[in-house]
Amino acid sequence: MRGGEYSRLVAVPGASQTPEVDLGSLDFWGQPAQERDRYFAQLRRDAPVSRHEAPEDILGMPDQARPGYWAVVRYEDVRRISRDPESFCSGEGTQFADAPPEFLEASMSFLAMDAPRHSKLRGLVSSAFTPRQVARIEEGIRANARLIVEEAAPTGGGDFVQLVAKRLPLITISDMIGVPAADRERVVAAADLLVTTSDPEAFGDRPPIEVLGEALWTLTEFATELASYREQHPGEDLMSGLVHAEIDGERLTHAEIAAFFVLLSVAGNDTTRHTTSHALRALSVHRDQRALLQDDPEQRLGTAVEEFVRWASPVLTFRRTTTRPVELHGQQLAAGEKVVLFYHSANRDEQAFSDPWRFDIAREPNRHVGFGGGGPHYCLGASLARTQLRSIFGELNRVIPDIEADEPELLRSAFIHGVKRMNCTFRPRA
Ligand code: HEM
Repeated sequence: MRGGEYSRLVAVPGASQTPEVDLGSLDFWGQPAQERDRYFAQLRRDAPVSRHEAPEDILGMPDQARPGYWAVVRYEDVRRISRDPESFCSGEGTQFADAPPEFLEASMSFLAMDAPRHSKLRGLVSSAFTPRQVARIEEGIRANARLIVEEAAPTGGGDFVQLVAKRLPLITISDMIGVPAADRERVVAAADLLVTTSDPEAFGDRPPIEVLGEALWTLTEFATELASYREQHPGEDLMSGLVHAEIDGERLTHAEIAAFFVLLSVAGNDTTRHTTSHALRALSVHRDQRALLQDDPEQRLGTAVEEFVRWASPVLTFRRTTTRPVELHGQQLAAGEKVVLFYHSANRDEQAFSDPWRFDIAREPNRHVGFGGGGPHYCLGASLARTQLRSIFGELNRVIPDIEADEPELLRSAFIHGVKRMNCTFRPRA
């Protein structure tokens, strides 16, 4: 346990091995979700808003830059806070654990901004992500999903993340931004590092801050080169739109464009990839649900995809800062306090979902907070992610319906509920 003024460890009755847990410790986040949820279930019941010391830091931040935080774990509270940006702002940082300000500035873009700048920047790209616009590119997404699954079919199995889950989000977002095919793997590897630095596998024996800095530099440099090229040679992609866009009569700087690029590359890749892996594992364990889906995929994929996102909750946390004193469940929060939203816990809230640990592809209603609790920062890519998930599972069902996944190897991260590797097997098809 790490000491601190506000430390509040959660004691779980009947737990013989680990009677207390520190929500900010990275090892806690390396455990399977169901294991973690024993603690969250207790918080949801007994302490919906609780004060904790700063989360574990591996980047070497000075103590004064590591504030304590309030943990918000219930569904209704996550929704309420997400929809009240006047009281809970994003401009003071959105990551659970702090990072050096220059890193955040280079990677968060409008995710960590408030109105009016947030709305203006988000507005520059939002038209590319509307359900109508996504419907226009759906055919292409389906064709790519078909190709990916057909290429995997003769192998008979392997690491599902590399074979299938990673590929469609990579192609989709790279196509939209306009990343040339030859650079895609490199860009995604760097984008991955930004969210995996908390896992020892990512940094090995190097200081994590160095690995993070290098990855960010790779992305920033690449984005700047691409921006310069698109200034001279405009195309139909998002990068061409960004370099020619104006806000209040001014062009975006290359640094702003690079941060935009980093945000879209990270948000567009990891979340959908990990949802795909968690969903395949759930379908392998819950065979009745797989049978139900295979019985009528056309009809059932829509509700199934919502359950995939609720079940996976690939984004675990985002943070807000109070702009004025607020009261939450009898707790007085002063202005300037950090408030962390625990999405996975909200998606297992017994008050919002009946039998929340039942994986139910026909669950209705299923108003999960996997894409956020609503409000101005609600996931820009929700339609795109849904379309990709429908396409990939449609093709898996069609081409390799017998695919089975083993236990996943989980990422150690308090931000992304990630699957590093997951072996899968199926009968090879020519
Ligand atoms: C299953 C897949 C996905 C999940 C679960 C997910 C989840 C989330 C969550 C929880 C947020 C924060 C919401 C909030 O603060 O209220 C978010 C924001 C965002 N997402 Fe997604 N996301 C997914 C896929 C995507 C994709 C494919 C893109 C495409 C680029 C994307 C782009 C973004 C962006 C740009 C933001 C920031 C929005 C803002 O601050 O205004 N996401 N996402």
